[in-house]
Amino acid sequence: MITNPNSLIKNKQAKELVSSDNMKLLQEKLAKYDAPQKAMAAGIYPYFRMIESDQDTEVQISGKKVLMFGSNSYLGLTNHPKVKEAAIEATRKYGTGCAGSRFLNGTLDLHVQLEERLADFVGKEDAIVYSTGFQVNLGVVSCLTGREDYILWDELDHASIIEGHRLSYSTKLKFKHNDMESLEKQLQKCEPDKVKLIVIDGVFSMEGDVANLPEIVALSKKYNASIMVDEAHGIGVLGKQGRGTCNHFGVSQDVDLIMGTFSKSFASIGGFIASDKDTINYLRHNSRSYIFSASNTPAATAAVNASLDIMLNEPERIEHLWKLTNYALDGFRNIGCEIGNTSTPIIPLFIRNNDLTFLIVRELFDAGIFVNPVVSPAVAPDDTLIRFSLMATHTQEQLDYALEAIHKVFRKHKLVP
Ligand SMILES: Cc1ncc(COP(=O)(O)O)c(C=O)c1O
Repeated sequence: MITNPNSLIKNKQAKELVSSDNMKLLQEKLAKYDAPQKAMAAGIYPYFRMIESDQDTEVQISGKKVLMFGSNSYLGLTNHPKVKEAAIEATRKYGTGCAGSRFLNGTLDLHVQLEERLADFVGKEDAIVYSTGFQVNLGVVSCLTGREDYILWDELDHASIIEGHRLSYSTKLKFKHNDMESLEKQLQKCEPDKVKLIVIDGVFSMEGDVANLPEIVALSKKYNASIMVDEAHGIGVLGKQGRGTCNHFGVSQDVDLIMGTFSKSFASIGGFIASDKDTINYLRHNSRSYIFSASNTPAATAAVNASLDIMLNEPERIEHLWKLTNYALDGFRNIGCEIGNTSTPIIPLFIRNNDLTFLIVRELFDAGIFVNPVVSPAVAPDDTLIRFSLMATHTQEQLDYALEAIHKVFRKHKLVP
């Protein structure tokens, strides 16, 4: 068929018109999103505060020193001389990057040694290291189960778990937070001969409460389900030498997959999944965020190795973290703060109002305290909170100062008597 050249020109013009209209529609739509600008204009925008110092219990922001109570570095190792030295040494020996995926040219002896140590640390046969914890959940939860299978997830699971199961073709069943009746109801909906994977946080990242693992394990046995536990906030905090929530409850062998990140107690960046040899073999060859993404840097990997040494050899850090945690939990309860069901160094101070949460974060900053606001979609709109978190390197004096400052600001807003 011979095409009329004029119709080609018309088609081209029509296409250009459509695509320029699309651009306009997109820009129009995005311009309506102005919540950040409004918070900035009100002087309560709480994000992207620029830190000009190292990550320690005291940080410098806009020339002002503030106490850091918003960090995930529960053992305070980001500034430890041995961890820093290990990262520098690895950079000297291996360079700054691996220039490829683990699958092809990006595997170092450092990665493999760390995998062996981590598997042993959490009591599993094998492990693989990813470039971030987010990528672990994305790449693991999305690829283990098939179309006919089920993923059961707690409504307060971390965003990376949710993104992981969004990519999966399995049926997803949400259960109420840490509610065993709700989990059992969902398990009853599953076909008995299909794979069922329960995915949960060991310690919930925003509210600091601990998963009811003994009962989840019992239900998994009753319904022949598998379990994956995200230990992002459990490692370094709970269990023998900080081995995590599964170790704490003595259920490491009943849990099928244990996930961890390096961005919290391990003072670095990256993450891992540990399991039996067959599961890890499957993931090693099928998990897309592992295969199609560059491996983590020599410095980041070596820092984790050094942090693990410290975790194993300096139990006094975890002891001090727990001493501070128990003191802070009592302190906040005595003040009259609503702190939910936490029993860990993550302490939610419920505000239940978006703008007031931002305002209080601002006022606490002015009083020399850095804390994080947690608002929707990280929590339900009525559950907004201030996330207060402890590090093993905090002093009693720093904590007392924070408790007093928080008491003052909360009283001013009539949140406490
Ligand atoms: C429970 C949980 N899982 C996974 C992640 C993701 O880890 P990473 O920061 O290493 O990407 C986080 C980080 O915030 C988390 O809190």
